[in-house]
Amino acid sequence: MEFGKNAHGFLAAHKEKHGDVFTVLIAGKYMTFIMNPLLYPYVIKHQKQLDFHEFSDQVAPLTFGYPPVRSGKFPGMEEHIQRSFRLLQGDNLNNLTESMMGNLMFVFRQDYLTGESEWRTESVYQLCNSIMFEATFLTLFGKPAHTSRHNGMVTLREDFVKFDTMFPLLIARIPISLLGGTKAIRDKLINYFHPQRMSPWSNTSGFIKERAALFEQYDSMRDVDKAAHHFATLWASVGNTVPATFWAMYYLVTHPEALAVVREEIHGVLQVSGIETDHNRDIAFTREQLDSLLYLESSINESLRLSSASMNIRVAQEDFSLRLEGERSIGVRKGDIVSLYPQSMHMDPGIYKNPEIYKFDRYIENGKEKTDFYKDGQKLKYYRMSFGSGSTKCPGRYFAVNEIKQFLSLLLLYFDVEVLEGQEPCTLDPSRAGLGILLPASDVQIRYRLR
Ligand code: HEM
Repeated sequence: MEFGKNAHGFLAAHKEKHGDVFTVLIAGKYMTFIMNPLLYPYVIKHQKQLDFHEFSDQVAPLTFGYPPVRSGKFPGMEEHIQRSFRLLQGDNLNNLTESMMGNLMFVFRQDYLTGESEWRTESVYQLCNSIMFEATFLTLFGKPAHTSRHNGMVTLREDFVKFDTMFPLLIARIPISLLGGTKAIRDKLINYFHPQRMSPWSNTSGFIKERAALFEQYDSMRDVDKAAHHFATLWASVGNTVPATFWAMYYLVTHPEALAVVREEIHGVLQVSGIETDHNRDIAFTREQLDSLLYLESSINESLRLSSASMNIRVAQEDFSLRLEGERSIGVRKGDIVSLYPQSMHMDPGIYKNPEIYKFDRYIENGKEKTDFYKDGQKLKYYRMSFGSGSTKCPGRYFAVNEIKQFLSLLLLYFDVEVLEGQEPCTLDPSRAGLGILLPASDVQIRYRLR
């Protein structure tokens, strides 16, 4: 319970008392925490003995409502699912980025780029959620036949938020039957992806098309199971991205000096390409243009550093001795968990000077991305781990950072944005500690108007 209330504080106190490697019995499981980031590579390289998917294949089916992939009922499916991740990266990212650009522009134009240039008020989370949720949905799953927007998007989003509130309890394996109306809400969300409902959708991403085709190959897979898999993908694609977008925007609008530099950088990229900005004209950034936005990228990475609290969980596949540096090793038993908690690294003053402070250009040095960070005089191989580590590192990470860049670029080009006066600074809500990007404890009011 102590861990659940304040994981970061709990681990820091234990590190103080027991050193940088210690084992805790949490909810019946022995969990060994490796707290020194210089030791992370020793854990990450043991991918066979320390497996991520054993844990995720126990927890994800209970959370999202599909049968375990490793149950033996679906031979070959796990490998195919892993292979589908390539469709989120490399050259495939070009199509996704282009499609996301169009969808963001579309949602901005429908709901925000309207009316005169008077000031309007809005809350930051509400703004990020409504735009990013719909644009990401359209990009991955496509649009309905004969119309550009899905019916019931607002209800879908509201149901998603209700489900997401229960997400930490589901991951903690609390039976869904004990969580009030959560089962009914999850059934409704899953139903949105019923194969018959999805079949007329167009502009669907290659990633979702390939997965839908894969599920069709298994007679033992019911339609509701296929739909539940798609629902899990929806969670993976927006569950962290929306709060990450919130923090990226929040820190920029509360740091006018950072916002000015980032806005100038975005204008500069468009000017070089001879593109004029006015709110009647649609804007599209190429992937190369997005890649060149160094200050924007650094500001996003800095907000990820401050808001991410994902725990890297690995299950030992056999009894073995985990070699750490030098002669040091620790005994791990089959079924035990070895865990990294990168938030401790992100907030380590020995690595990041004044770690509580938002420094938008922390990841830039001499006009280039800064990649050398040190602890105790040694260069760190891993210094920012918002997206996990090793071969199970989030496959959507490039897409996620690109879409946040696209969202912020459009926002800053089209609008003046200011925080309303008299508001308390936003703090992190710890209830999702260990599970990804933390939500804000409260929302923030801004005013915005067309530039
Ligand atoms: C897995 C973070 C956005 C798809 C993960 C993991 C983390 C993570 C921490 C677990 C990795 C591990 O423990 O090694 C994030 C964050 C995001 C984000 C912080 C946004 C800021 C996305 C997006 C997509 C996506 C946009 C899809 C379009 C996935 C998938 C997995 C995953 C499919 C499971 C990988 C596997 O089973 O091997 N993500 N993610 N994520 N993410 Fe993301």
